Amino acid sequence: MTDQPTPLRRPRRLRTSPAMRELVAETTLRPADLILPMFIADGIDAPREISSMPGVHQHTLDSLKRAAHEALEAGVRCVDLFGVPREEDKDADGTASGEEHGVLNRALAAMREEFGDDLLLMADTCLDEFTDHGHCGVVREDRWGRAVVDNDATLELYQAMAVAQADAGAHIVSPSGMMDGQIRAIRAALDAAGHQDVSIMAYSAKYASAFYGPFREAVGSSLQGDRRTYQQDPANLRESLLEAELDIEEGADFIMVKPAMPYLDVLAAVAQLSPVPVAAYQVSGEYAMLQAAAQNGWLDLEAVMMESLTSIKRAGANQILTYFATDAARVLNR
Ligand code: PBG
Repeated sequence: MTDQPTPLRRPRRLRTSPAMRELVAETTLRPADLILPMFIADGIDAPREISSMPGVHQHTLDSLKRAAHEALEAGVRCVDLFGVPREEDKDADGTASGEEHGVLNRALAAMREEFGDDLLLMADTCLDEFTDHGHCGVVREDRWGRAVVDNDATLELYQAMAVAQADAGAHIVSPSGMMDGQIRAIRAALDAAGHQDVSIMAYSAKYASAFYGPFREAVGSSLQGDRRTYQQDPANLRESLLEAELDIEEGADFIMVKPAMPYLDVLAAVAQLSPVPVAAYQVSGEYAMLQAAAQNGWLDLEAVMMESLTSIKRAGANQILTYFATDAARVLNR
């Protein structure tokens, strides 16, 4: 045998044509992987575009239904509803969140009537849209005169809110307030109210992120200050593993990591250990930055939209909450 040099290893062989690239693709997106977050506002008679989120609106009930039909036609199977109450309906305890006639609960009932079980309705189970101070829980003064969010007093309000959402027709409730014990408390309340089949998507690893900026405009947030005593420090990864583990133990049916793109390492680590589906939330600021760059002609919007979603899926997400859901689903259907 003659002494041949080792042939060059050529990974490019598997990239030679669209068919070959499709054959070897490890990650695929489906419209049904995508969940569309939507905003329902009280006291408006026409949808309002959110200036920092082009293409995203505060909806009236009519425009909400229309946009949800478009999402469903594109193959999206789940929408996540956020309520935007009138200023005069906000109070310190976010009371309207747990009332049948609160804006979110009314919308859930109307949407369930409209879509039945064809489109899954997820509801944001958090007080911040409903409180006049904008925090995700009850605020009280501690003995040193500091304003603190009272964990255990907040849990009772979350229980009432989750039950009201389930009564209204939500298929999934999604506690996003990062209070300790919120999953256990909500599961117990749902079960006691006969809502054994309503599932819980827990915002397990939710960071105190500046990427939520445009969302605050979207919901007309009243927040002064920040949420760093309950949302996580962007510096930390390990506590996300603990948060995920606790939420699963407490009964979460899905867990979530949020934001998505700046936290793909967290998502990958959580996805490794989770026995339940793992969602990721591509938040308002992630959407806004891609839109802004595209509006300047600096990025190709469709290409970065699909690449960002594929990356989130590749990192380990089973479901992706994204304001691009309908647009991305349409691209996938082509
Ligand atoms: C809290 C909540 C927030 C988002 C979703 N649920 C805001 C916050 O925690 O400050 C942000 C979503 C986004 O930025 O797209 N109810």
